[in-house]
Amino acid sequence: MNILVLNGPNLNLLGTREPGIYGHTTLHDIEEACVAHGRSLGVGVTCAQSNVEGVLIDHLHAARDTMAGVVLNAGAYTHTSVALRDAITAIELPVIELHLSNTHAREAFRHVSLIAPVCIGVIQGFGARGYPLALTALHGHLNGDKA
Ligand code: DQA
Repeated sequence: MNILVLNGPNLNLLGTREPGIYGHTTLHDIEEACVAHGRSLGVGVTCAQSNVEGVLIDHLHAARDTMAGVVLNAGAYTHTSVALRDAITAIELPVIELHLSNTHAREAFRHVSLIAPVCIGVIQGFGARGYPLALTALHGHLNGDKA
């Protein structure tokens, strides 16, 4: 079983980007932790990041034939992108929406997610720790574990 961990715009700057909000952990550290956590679950984890909306959509399309599910931090596209939402619907894979910050505790424009209705669930507000949480949740979902 393989899972794609896909990060969107500006998340390549994690570690130095607004650390008071997003923490000090770099994207590289997050990706390494995801691969290690996947190994402990018996799951292969592939990581990708892009600042470009269309490239994120290409990654989702490619996942359709190769991945069992996706953990997606779409960054600001969460709040704006109908195209990303349509891609999630099109690939018919379980997708978990993830945010490092609790977007509901921030500016009003971050309270709306265009992708949440087409994701199986949302994990947010736990910083970098959210990624392994999301992988565990997606792995359980894929195994039909209703907890
Ligand atoms: C974010 C939250 C978004 O609102 C913001 O645009 C980001 C990061 C998060 O992980 O907390 O880029 O997705």
